[in-house]
Amino acid sequence: MTNEAIPNLTAFDDAALNHAFSALERQAREDAAALNGTEAVEAFRLQWLGRKQGRLNEVSSRWLKAAPPDAKKPVGERFKLLKELVESLLDQASSAGPSDAALAAEATDITLPGTRRLTGAEHPITRTLNDITSVFAALGYSVGVGPEVETDYYNFECMNFPPGHPARDTQDTLVVAGQERRPLRDRLLLRTHTSPVQMRTMELHPPPVRIVIPGKVHRNDAADATHSPIFHQVEGLCVDANITFSDLKGTLDYAMKALFGSAVKTRFFPSFFPFTEPSADVQISCIFCGGKGCRKCKHSGWIELLGCGMVDPAVFAFAAQKQPAYDPKKISGFAFGMGVERIAMMKYGISEIGQFYAGDMRFLSQFA
Ligand code: PHE
Repeated sequence: MTNEAIPNLTAFDDAALNHAFSALERQAREDAAALNGTEAVEAFRLQWLGRKQGRLNEVSSRWLKAAPPDAKKPVGERFKLLKELVESLLDQASSAGPSDAALAAEATDITLPGTRRLTGAEHPITRTLNDITSVFAALGYSVGVGPEVETDYYNFECMNFPPGHPARDTQDTLVVAGQERRPLRDRLLLRTHTSPVQMRTMELHPPPVRIVIPGKVHRNDAADATHSPIFHQVEGLCVDANITFSDLKGTLDYAMKALFGSAVKTRFFPSFFPFTEPSADVQISCIFCGGKGCRKCKHSGWIELLGCGMVDPAVFAFAAQKQPAYDPKKISGFAFGMGVERIAMMKYGISEIGQFYAGDMRFLSQFA
C-alpha cells in the first residue's frame, strides 16, 4: 500500500465524481484484501482513517471543502459512502484474525523442550521460624502473631519501659510521622521486638498461657555482617500457677537440644530486661567446636543465643487491667525471645546476615 497523494479534482460533475470515488473504493478493497496480521490492519486504519494524513481526511479537504456550492451535496454523499465502506472493511479485517500464513509462522513447535518452571522452596528464615515454633508446639505451646506497626504502649510502656527510660535508647526505631497531637502511648512505631505480643495475648486470654510468637521486628541498627535493621524473632511466654525459673531453664535447655542436637549444653547468665526479673542471657556450647574453643565462639566455647527471664510483676499489673486473673500473687511465668537470623546463621554456617535478604538464587537454591 502506498499513500499516493489524493489529486485535486478539476471537474465536479457526476461522471467525474463517480470516476474519482470508484477509483478510491477499488483501492480500499484491494488494500483490505491484502491485510495479514494485526499490524497490517492498524497500518490500513492509519492510512485511510488517520486524523492527519489519512486518505479520507485528504478527500475531505481537497474534494469536499473545495467543491463549489452546488457540488457539495453529491461530493458529501459519495464521501459518506466511501467512509462507510472503509469502516466496514476495517471491521471485517480486525475480526478476521490472523491469516493462514501468519498462523503458520506463529505455530508452536511441540517438539521443542518446554519452559522449565522453578519449584519454590522455603526461605531459610521461614524454615528456621517453623523449626523453632514446632519445637515449642510439641511442648503444647500455641502460635500467635501480632502487628508489626505497634503503639508506644504495647512496644514499650506496658513492657515496663516508662516514657524517658534509658532502656528505650537500646531499641530505637522508626516512628510513623505526624502523630505529635496524639498521647505518647497511642503513637505508632515499627515494633522493636515481639514482646508486645506477650501483652496482647494476656489481654485476650486469662492464664494458663503457653504461646510462641514468630515475627518481624525493626531497629535503628547499622547493618553489618551480623546486624540488620529488619530481622526476625520468636517470642515465648508461659504463665501458670507455680511457674519457676527451673521450668524456664528446663524448657530452654530442651529446646536448644531439639534445635542444635542433644550434645548441646546451655548456661544462664544474669542480664537485664525491663519486663523480666530476674533476667538471663542464654548461651549454648559452641556447635562448631563442641565447646573446646574456636574462632566462631571467640575461643570461649560458648555462644550467646537468647534473652529470657521471669515475667516482671509490673508487666502482670498492666495485663491485670484487662484480665484480673493476672495477679502476681497467684500466678507466675517466664518469657524468652530469640533472634531467628542468628540461629539460622549458626545452623547453616552463614557468615553474612545480608545474604538472607539479597534474593540471590545462588544462595537461596542451596536450601531448596
Ligand atoms: N525482647 C527482648 C529483645 O528483643 C528479648 C526477650 C524476650 C528477653 C523475652 C526476655 C524475655 O531483646
